[in-house]
Amino acid sequence: MGIVIKGTGCYVPERVLTNSDLEKMVDTSDEWIVSRTGIRERHIAGPETATSDLAAQAGLRAILSAGITPEEIDLVIVSTVTPDMPTPPTATIVQRKLGIPPCMCFDIEAACTGLLYGIDLVHGMLASGHRKTALLIGGDKLSGVVNWTDRSTCVLFGDAASALVIQVDPAAGEDFYVAGEISADGRNAEFLKIPGFGSACPPTQEGIVQHLNSITMNGPKTYQMAVSAMSSACRKVLDRTGVTPEDIRWAIPHQANDRIISSVAERLGISERIYRNVARFGNTSSASIGICLDELNRSGQLKRGDLVLTAAFGAGLTWAAELIRW
Ligand code: UT7
Repeated sequence: MGIVIKGTGCYVPERVLTNSDLEKMVDTSDEWIVSRTGIRERHIAGPETATSDLAAQAGLRAILSAGITPEEIDLVIVSTVTPDMPTPPTATIVQRKLGIPPCMCFDIEAACTGLLYGIDLVHGMLASGHRKTALLIGGDKLSGVVNWTDRSTCVLFGDAASALVIQVDPAAGEDFYVAGEISADGRNAEFLKIPGFGSACPPTQEGIVQHLNSITMNGPKTYQMAVSAMSSACRKVLDRTGVTPEDIRWAIPHQANDRIISSVAERLGISERIYRNVARFGNTSSASIGICLDELNRSGQLKRGDLVLTAAFGAGLTWAAELIRW
């Protein structure tokens, strides 16, 4: 008896926003964005699209990829910082959209680390024996919480969702989840946040004018923390399991910035087999790692038994590294 990743899916909205489009909106350049971040384009959802729409599309693709029916799912978790609304949970809206019967459904919020927090959570819940099939989704419509006049943040983010079907499999010999190093340090919460409109800073007309409902970030501080937190979490996972960088089939760091990815790769000594798609999607928060997994899975670049090392960081600051056996 083991727990396996049975299916993957992802969804990005059709509309593409290129760096040259952004050159017409703020004082920036394709050259600056590419050299500092590696991002060339990102996908942006229209006003009629909610996070649950992105999440449901990704979820449907994961269900089809797993070859299961919605009736088999008995746990739905959505990781998001942009829920459709404060309540009900976006997971219940996705459940309704996908025709999943009554079961445990809730949201988690761990920013860009959310999918990895979710994997750890789902694994523990399935291992307890009370549930069999989970739909885990990371989805965000970050375009709705970006200040489109702030060049230091608006060039970085994109909208997307990704999903995993994780299932107890009586025929599987071992679990997909080999080891995880998961943490957060709230002392650095100021580096990256959306300051309004929660209970600490309720919505006001003035707050809207001041863009308090948009992402603010200390880029350089977040950058330094990202490199050191992801590298040291990966190192701990490798040391604990005795797995070497040569054993890793794919390393998948959170896709926020190509230079961060390169620094982590260099520190770990994994310069090849490090997956990158940040150029096409920008930073898609908790959708990011699931998109990479789905692309690798669908293109046949992952075989059963392959070891995949994932790592992420995000607001909080939260971070995690997880070793997965495909
Ligand atoms: O999922 C977690 C999310 N967060 C991250 O991953 C962010 C991590 N941080 C980063 O990726 C980088 O810090 C950024 C890409 C955000 C910024 O790159 P940087 O090399 O750290 O630049 P900087 O913030 O130190 O700014 C350098 C210069 C500044 O101008 P001055 O003061 O040197 O004249 C900025 O005003 O670049 C300027 N700048 C821009 N110029 C053109 C900032 N944004 C832009 C822009 N276009 N879009």
